Amino acid sequence: MQERKANIAVLVSGGGTNLQALINAQNKGVIKSGEIKLVISNNSGAYALQRAEKANIKTAVITKKSFADQQSFEDAIIDELEENKIDLIVLAGFMSILSEKFTSHFKNRIINVHPSLIPSFCGQGFYGLRVHEEALKKGVKVTGATVHFVNEIPDGGEIIMQKAVNVLDNDTPESLQKRVMRLAEWKILPQSTELISKKLIER
Ligand code: GAR
Repeated sequence: MQERKANIAVLVSGGGTNLQALINAQNKGVIKSGEIKLVISNNSGAYALQRAEKANIKTAVITKKSFADQQSFEDAIIDELEENKIDLIVLAGFMSILSEKFTSHFKNRIINVHPSLIPSFCGQGFYGLRVHEEALKKGVKVTGATVHFVNEIPDGGEIIMQKAVNVLDNDTPESLQKRVMRLAEWKILPQSTELISKKLIER
């Protein structure tokens, strides 16, 4: 008998290499308890949208500037997620902080990948390349990535998986970002997505 799969939505803003890692993991059977049904971008120019289209995944563009305020922007995202009966929301480079109203609506159903070992270099203002610039400035010898549940505190939800990556003497923010993605993010995000999807369908 075919077991039910969790319906997954991936929220993106940019290049979408983490989305690509999720699509590849689904194709390889690493993600087998869930299926990516929808990709939502808050940026109409995000290359992630092209990756989704190429994989025949439904896309939606919901931009903040089309709405009067944060709440109506988030309500539009909620409507789209509910129309598509989404069970699990994966934030993969989604560069907009979601309010408590949104996060409590989907309690324990939103996960995020962050490019550091939380609680280092995280919280408001720490996103993308900035995180790696700060890690290099501090001179840490080990950094990495974290997948965590999303609650009302930016990067403050329960940790699901972490993976450490060594910092090299000649690293630039760009070289460090690439290595953290390749060795950590692209592995633990698909693994966590499978883990949480499995838990959701076993409920
Ligand atoms: C990734 O490094 C992700 O961890 C980070 O943005 C990048 C998106 O890349 N997210 C954050 O900083 C969230 N606080 P991608 O679009 O190629 O997946």
